[in-house]
Amino acid sequence: MTDAAPDQPQPATVRIFDTTLRDGEQSPGASLNHAEKLEIARQLEKLGVDVIEAGFPITSDGDFEAVKAIAGELQRATVCGLARCVPRDIDRAGEAVRDAAHGRVHVFCATSKIHREHKLRKAFDEIIALSKHSIEHARQYVDDVEFSPEDGSRTELEYLVDITAAAIEAGATTINIPDTVGYAVPEEYGHIFAHLRQQLPQIDRDGIVLSSHCHNDLGFAVANSIAAVQNGARQVECTINGIGERAGNAALEEIVMALQTRRDYFDRFATNIHPKEIFKTSRMVSNLTGLIVQRNKAVIGENAFAHESGIHQDGVLKHRETYEIMDPRDIGVPESKLVLGKHSGRHALGDRIADLGYTVDDTMLQRVYDRFKALADKKKDVYDEDIEAILDDIAGTGRALWELKSFRVVADSDEESFAMVALRDSSGQTRKHVSLGDGPVDACYSAIQHLTGVSVTLERFATRAVTGGKDAQGEVSVTLDHHGRKVRGRGLSTDVIEAAVKAYLSAINRIKTGNGASADASAEPESVAHP
Ligand code: KIV
Ligand code: ZN
Repeated sequence: MTDAAPDQPQPATVRIFDTTLRDGEQSPGASLNHAEKLEIARQLEKLGVDVIEAGFPITSDGDFEAVKAIAGELQRATVCGLARCVPRDIDRAGEAVRDAAHGRVHVFCATSKIHREHKLRKAFDEIIALSKHSIEHARQYVDDVEFSPEDGSRTELEYLVDITAAAIEAGATTINIPDTVGYAVPEEYGHIFAHLRQQLPQIDRDGIVLSSHCHNDLGFAVANSIAAVQNGARQVECTINGIGERAGNAALEEIVMALQTRRDYFDRFATNIHPKEIFKTSRMVSNLTGLIVQRNKAVIGENAFAHESGIHQDGVLKHRETYEIMDPRDIGVPESKLVLGKHSGRHALGDRIADLGYTVDDTMLQRVYDRFKALADKKKDVYDEDIEAILDDIAGTGRALWELKSFRVVADSDEESFAMVALRDSSGQTRKHVSLGDGPVDACYSAIQHLTGVSVTLERFATRAVTGGKDAQGEVSVTLDHHGRKVRGRGLSTDVIEAAVKAYLSAINRIKTGNGASADASAEPESVAHP
């Protein structure tokens, strides 16, 4: 007799499709430039993401180039470009992913009654014909074509069955059912997937992948995604930190950790994600987009593993699992290490950078080292987080036309503040200007506008401490409006006014160098809005 366990069925792999890099899925003002997109895409591949939707190539040349560069570099992940059912969109997306090791074009067309009547002003038959034609067009570029009936969850079920059947017939291999406005509830959303599989046996027979794409307007995005998986979805579309249009998209880290932590319940499903990369990816996305993660955010918020109540602290000290269902080390939360002091050398810094998972060449190492030395002069303890912040800051800076040489402020709570700002321009000349303002930051911003000749409106200003303690580095992120275009900037310093000045200047440099990567609204035909 053998004591071998009876064969266990293998869990089904749920593909993780990440839309963090798609401009339309980022919150306003969070657009990323080319270098930032590449950096995040590399990290997403390390995280184990199966499909990366790298952008919406028709929206701007910058987006096209970013998708193309990511498609040309990544070897494991599928790289996808988004397109409406418009021939020039499909051509642009197809060209952008043509050289990918694994390329995909994702076409979408709205199908719900409200979108048909008020947005597209088309009958359902026309939408079916347009979608089929567009899928066939996309198949001329790649074999891997995904189709989304936009606002799918609010589309009449029988119409959803018809458009799914037509899309499969035209050559789509993945059918994504978006809950575009975050309206569905889990039971109802899950039922859509069960119903499609029941009505269309070709889905399971021919290996067509059903996919979920959930927005979080009612806070159901993760629950809806999991309901879809339980009813047969084998691809989940999500974003890091749940960033996205309005209230955001389903958060990748929450879905993955729900499946992993509750393996006892979800033992039928597995993903290819390496959870240990979650924390680093989350930090990178937050640093580069300027979208700060709320403290109590599930899985990766600062408080997710903090215990304040005495009873909980006592329990955790006695046995961690009394109040912790996940081990922070499982998602790669580093034990914050005191890295190096002001006497540490370049070599030690290089080793630490490699340990943190970054690859830098000699020029980049020198730039990080110069910033590190300057920081170590001001700050007693330099932590991993400080080094990561410097790395992300340098990666996001790009080519600078103006550099901050010095600034001085005189602030008085009763009077206007006064600022003297000196900037060096690209020819090496230093120019100074003195301005008054409503507070020191406002005074500095007026001086910078005068010196650079760029007139902007400050739309958003956010600040946070990168590490703890009195001498923490402060990070400021700003969003500026320049003739309707939103451009983001970020600055880092132990002095919060200096961080604010650097953030403003980095956004202005982006405006002047065209490095801001914001979507070009003029590319949208009137009848079809951005998803
Ligand atoms: O939310 C949505 O409907 C989308 C589609 C383009 C998939 O993002
Ligand atoms: Zn969406």
